[in-house]
Amino acid sequence: MRSLPGRIDRYPGKMVLHLADKLVDLYASGADHVLDPFCGSGAIIDAGSKRNIRVSGIDINPFGVLLSRVKVEGFDAEHALNICNELLERAQCSDELPLQWDNKSYWFTPATLRKIEQLRFVAKGLQLCDTDAGRAVLLALGLSARPCSRADQRSPKPFISKEAIRTRKGKHFDPRRTIKKMLHELCGLYGERRQANVSILHLNVVDAARACRESLTCSHVITSPPYVNAQDYFRNSKLELYVLESLLPFRVDDIVHQFVGTERRLNRSLLSDNESKWRRDIVPKLWCLERRHARKALIVHRYIRDMNAAFLAIRDLLSPGGTLVLVCGDNLVGGTRIVTWKALNAMLESIGFTIFDQFEDPIRSRSLAPRRNGHKGLIKQEVVSAFRLNRDGWSGA
Ligand SMILES: C[S@@+](CC[C@H](N)C(=O)[O-])C[C@H]1O[C@@H](n2cnc3c(N)ncnc32)[C@H](O)[C@@H]1O
Repeated sequence: MRSLPGRIDRYPGKMVLHLADKLVDLYASGADHVLDPFCGSGAIIDAGSKRNIRVSGIDINPFGVLLSRVKVEGFDAEHALNICNELLERAQCSDELPLQWDNKSYWFTPATLRKIEQLRFVAKGLQLCDTDAGRAVLLALGLSARPCSRADQRSPKPFISKEAIRTRKGKHFDPRRTIKKMLHELCGLYGERRQANVSILHLNVVDAARACRESLTCSHVITSPPYVNAQDYFRNSKLELYVLESLLPFRVDDIVHQFVGTERRLNRSLLSDNESKWRRDIVPKLWCLERRHARKALIVHRYIRDMNAAFLAIRDLLSPGGTLVLVCGDNLVGGTRIVTWKALNAMLESIGFTIFDQFEDPIRSRSLAPRRNGHKGLIKQEVVSAFRLNRDGWSGA
C-alpha cells in the first residue's frame, strides 16, 4: 500500500489511496471518462490517470486543485528549483504583498509574517501559476503556511492548542527554509512531467456543469462528497488559502460561502421554505435536531439543499446509463447522528439513479481531528454505493 508524507498530502477528508485504486478498478476499468466533482487532493484523479483513463476533477478549494494538479501533471524539477532559488534571493530585499486577513497576527509571528509577505510579493511578479514548475513552487509556499504558523501540527483543522503553545512558543519557523524543504519533497514525489489526459477545474460544481458541460460530460463519476459539519473545508485550508490568495486566480471572499457543508451564511427561512418538509423526510432526525439545536439543524437543511443542487448538476454531466460511485459516511451534528450516506442515496434514487452495489469500507488513516473537548471522533462508518443513471429519464426531485 502506498502512503505519502502527511505534511505533503494532508487534506481534510481525503480519500485513502488504496480505496481510490480499488474503486477505479472495480467500477471504471476501461471507462471513457471519469469525473470527480469534489476532487479535493485528487486521489481519484490520480488513480484514473495512472490507468490511462481520461479524468476530470472539479473543486471549489483552489488549494486542493493546486495539490491535485501538481500531483497528477508532475513538473520539471530542475526548473522549479531554479524558480525557488530566484524567489528566495529576491525576497531577501523586496517589498511585501500583505495577506488580506484580519487574523493573520494570531496565526503568525511578526517575523514569519514579514517573510511570507515578502515571498508573496516576489511570487506574484513571477506569475508562478502559469507553468507546472511555478505551480510546484506555489504549492511549496502554500504547504509552508501551516508548519510556519502557531497552529497545532497534528490536526487537519488548524487551531492553537495548549500543546502547540507549550512546544512551539518562542521558536521561529522560517518560511524560506520550509518552502525549500517542501519543494525538495515535492520534487522527490512528483518532479517529473507526466503525460496525462486530465483536466482539473477550480469551480463550484453547479457552475462547472453550467459552464463546461460539453468538456465534462462523462461515463463515470466517482467521488467522496463534502460531509455535513464534520470538516469545514474552508477552515481546514484557510492558512494555505490566505497565503495563496492573489497568487492563484481566486479571492477568499468569493469562495468562502460556496463550500457545501459550511456553517456560514445560514438562512432561517430554510426551516420553513417549500422544500423543508422534503428535507426532513430525507433526514428523519432533522425534526429532533431542530428542537434541540436549531442552528445545527439549519446547517443540515442547507447541506441537503446544496447537495441536491450538486447531484442535479452531476446528473447533467453523466451520460445516460453511466455509473456514479459515492463514498460517504455518517456525521455527528449537535450530538445527533446524521446518517449522511443514507440521505444522499435516497436523494440520488429520487432523481433517476438505481443502486446496484454497496459495501462498507473501514476507516483507516483518515485525516480526522485529534480528540479534544470530549469529541469522540466524528465519522464512524463509510459506505461505498454504486449507482447507474437510468436511461429512460427520471422522476425529478
Ligand atoms: C470529502 S472531500 C473530497 C476529498 C477527495 N476525495 C480527496 O481525495 O482529497 C470533499 C471536497 O468537496 C469540495 N467542495 C465543497 N463544496 C464544493 C462545491 N460547491 N463545489 C465543488 N467542490 C466542493 C471540498 O473543497 C472538498 O475538497
